Amino acid sequence: MKAIDVQQLEKTYSNGVHALKGVDLTIQDGDFFGLLGANGAGKTTMISILTGTATKTGGSAKIFGIDIDKDHNKAKEMIGLVPQEFNFNIFEKVIDIVVTQGGYFGIPRKECLKRAQKILEALDLWEKRDHPSMQLSGGMKRRLMIARALIHQPKLLILDEPTAGVDVELRHGMWKYLQELNKSGVTILLTSHYLEEIEALCRNVAMIKKGEIVINGTVKEVLQSLDRQIYVVNVDKVKDIDELNTFKWKKIDDTTLEVEVDQKKTVNELVKILDTHKMLVQDIKPKSNRLEQLFLNLLNE
Ligand SMILES: Nc1ncnc2c1ncn2[C@@H]1O[C@H](COP(=O)(O)OP(=O)(O)OP(=O)(O)O)[C@@H](O)[C@H]1O
Ligand SMILES: [Mg+2]
Repeated sequence: MKAIDVQQLEKTYSNGVHALKGVDLTIQDGDFFGLLGANGAGKTTMISILTGTATKTGGSAKIFGIDIDKDHNKAKEMIGLVPQEFNFNIFEKVIDIVVTQGGYFGIPRKECLKRAQKILEALDLWEKRDHPSMQLSGGMKRRLMIARALIHQPKLLILDEPTAGVDVELRHGMWKYLQELNKSGVTILLTSHYLEEIEALCRNVAMIKKGEIVINGTVKEVLQSLDRQIYVVNVDKVKDIDELNTFKWKKIDDTTLEVEVDQKKTVNELVKILDTHKMLVQDIKPKSNRLEQLFLNLLNE
């Protein structure tokens, strides 16, 4: 069963911006899927179409087999959305924000209260239940958005940049919670600028660039497809030697060089060359994590 099945999705905004250019994307039931893309790539536009806050100008979209054109409400019931921007009433109390949302889905108040307690406790917000939401910190607000999105027990949770502005410790706490949700059977789609986040959480990943999907596969496959890796090498003194030119490299300062190693060459080869020319290697490490490198390569193509 496909949780999301998007075919040839098109969106041209009324101001003429062509935000989605024939996007095909399928996400299987139970998946933890990451959508990567630079600012303005079209991530939020796609999510808005799936959740009904924007209308597509072409193509089709199904949520668990339900065409969003045919049964919009039913499709919407399947989705919990954590939007990119905070959009709750800042004067409303935490508990009310969550319970009211349940009301929109026709869930009886008593049941909503029961569910809300469980969710707010799990997200460490129960103590704050009677505070107006404006009194929450940024990280707490993010968690409140997650709590609100879960009250109707959706089969699919979509999070648009869920950990923007959340500190490392909290972010890891949120990751754990999302992983548990996913294990309990909730399909998760998240967009993120934190590549580390996609690598840590997701099984599958797609990258969208200027409204088109440019990469789609398992996180593992995508990493394997990366054939270049830049290493930062610290030596006692950088010398300009011919043999190094079989690599793409540049001198950063007197003791540091950056060398691009592709699949045809190995780090061993590099070390041997440096050794032969009496450049004493003090440290050698990848410049950034591989996914990040791939991301930057793609963005700058
Ligand atoms: N309501 C709108 N009206 C007109 N153009 C829009 C609207 N919303 C988004 N756009 C444009 O559509 C394109 C895609 O925007 P979108 O918000 O989907 O990007 P994004 O990938 O979510 O970016 P970010 O990472 O910054 O959130 C951009 O060029 C943006 O300016
Ligand atoms: Mg966005």
